[in-house]
Amino acid sequence: MKHPIHPMLVHFPVATWFLATLGDIASLFTHEQVGWVAGVLLVIGTMTALLAMVTGLVELGKIDSQSPAAKIANQHMILILTSWSFYAVSLFLRLDGTQLEQPGSLAIASSVAGLIFLCSAGWMGGKLVYEYGVGIHPSSPDRSQ
Ligand code: HEM
Repeated sequence: MKHPIHPMLVHFPVATWFLATLGDIASLFTHEQVGWVAGVLLVIGTMTALLAMVTGLVELGKIDSQSPAAKIANQHMILILTSWSFYAVSLFLRLDGTQLEQPGSLAIASSVAGLIFLCSAGWMGGKLVYEYGVGIHPSSPDRSQ
């Protein structure tokens, strides 16, 4: 594999979590179906994030633990684990058995907190790639600049 698989997989949780939080906020003002759709998106985001985490751990293992990039990678991981936890709590709070209920204010607040940590983690992920060149092939033309 010439490049990491992690950037390909992260789009699924990023997109679904982001839309879930938007849906949660919108559910305060619109039809209750929106809150249900947000719940489905949360399920997809929370599951696909686990796949992204596995591939992220593979990439983490390739970074020299003494390098400055390792510190950023650990911060990225902690932020994403925090985001995942908030989204998982938000999902749990709207479940009645296996049925998705309308999100209450605590579930919506947890979803918003998840998004804040997701954005911070994404910022750190971008830093790893675009500032430290993590996952970029050494012979890439971009690296010679
Ligand atoms: C155990 C958890 C994780 C670890 C150890 C980890 C580690 C990494 C590493 C080493 C990179 C830079 C190399 C690469 O792009 O492959 C990276 C980039 C990134 N990660 Fe993660 N990651 C984890 C989970 C996640 C999850 C769940 C998401 C999304 C919800 C995510 C979003 C990103 C993003 C957006 C980038 C930047 C990719 C780019 O701009 O090309 N990461 N991560």
